[in-house]
Amino acid sequence: MVDSFEKIPVKIFTTPKDGSEFAAREIGKLIRSKESKGEKCVLGLATGSTPISLYASLVRLHQEEGLSFKNVVTFNLDEYYPIEPEALQSYHNFMQRNLFSKVDIDPANINIPDGRVAKDKIKEYCQQYEQKIEAAGGIDLQVLGIGNNGHIGFNEPGSSRYSKTRLVTLDNSTRVANAREFQNISHVPRMAITMGISTIMNAKRIILMAWGLKANIVQKSVEGHVTEHIPASILQQHNDCTFIIDELAATELTRFKSPWLTGEITWTPQTIRKAVVHMALKLKKPVLSLTTNDYIDSGLGDLLTEFGDGYEINLQVYYQLRDSITGWPGGKPNAVIPNHPERSEPYPNLLSASR
Ligand code: F6R
Repeated sequence: MVDSFEKIPVKIFTTPKDGSEFAAREIGKLIRSKESKGEKCVLGLATGSTPISLYASLVRLHQEEGLSFKNVVTFNLDEYYPIEPEALQSYHNFMQRNLFSKVDIDPANINIPDGRVAKDKIKEYCQQYEQKIEAAGGIDLQVLGIGNNGHIGFNEPGSSRYSKTRLVTLDNSTRVANAREFQNISHVPRMAITMGISTIMNAKRIILMAWGLKANIVQKSVEGHVTEHIPASILQQHNDCTFIIDELAATELTRFKSPWLTGEITWTPQTIRKAVVHMALKLKKPVLSLTTNDYIDSGLGDLLTEFGDGYEINLQVYYQLRDSITGWPGGKPNAVIPNHPERSEPYPNLLSASR
């Protein structure tokens, strides 16, 4: 863990496939160790696009390495409400397609909230779901994805830390995100049955996976304050929770975005430019107006110690930026002066360089 910034252990993998393979192996180890003790392994499972590659890896472990699911009991996080289990978009259907029909799990050991329960019976049904989890000995390992608004399960922002399995109303942003599975947004159910945050927090171990464009919410959940406005941030209070993410989902973490804040870094013209541009954008000031105090307040005191005058650094960065302005963004073939004003080679993309 990069201390003081990341408050949840984060493992970063090159691709979602690598991260999923790692998670699948962790789950496989747990299933086998429980099996060797003659115990059931209770898994909490998620749906959505994130765990598809995890389930593919688990199926492969079953087919190629003999991983058996005979001693596995599962509890899914959530299900749309109302929905028929046979509906293409139901999480029953999703789990059958992606995992259950491809492994040797006993159907009697599968638990997914039922999207058909009559509304006046839901409270009782949800209490029974909680009791069933308890009777199974609690969840040994809970798999989670994360919504762009920080939801876990369908616990939308504002959900209580003490919430249990219940009927919830979906955020509009969640319905928009999930509309891809339906004909159009009007077909996305407005409600869902979901395990609560306390149900999730009671799991002995938690693995949250996030790929691609989830960098912002991953950063807020891992580095921000614990708040019910970002339900995933509450996971900071769990004693065995790991985030498994890919490189893209890691880009907003301080260790990548502002590595100079996490300890000593080797200053190169590129890292200096990145740090100074980052500071200027944050302070909403032109580069040439940055003062010594701005450097110190922005955690860039080291840069001053190493290179002296802030004004001189401002100038050097300004020259670098100025020289990147050209009417030939793709580089000018056969340019006489290779660096200025028209370069013979394209300049590195400033946006990605300032990340
Ligand atoms: C699904 C679930 C949700 C999803 C989240 C991310 O069972 O509980 O919290 O994990 O909405 O969805 P994807 O993976 O589709 O981005």
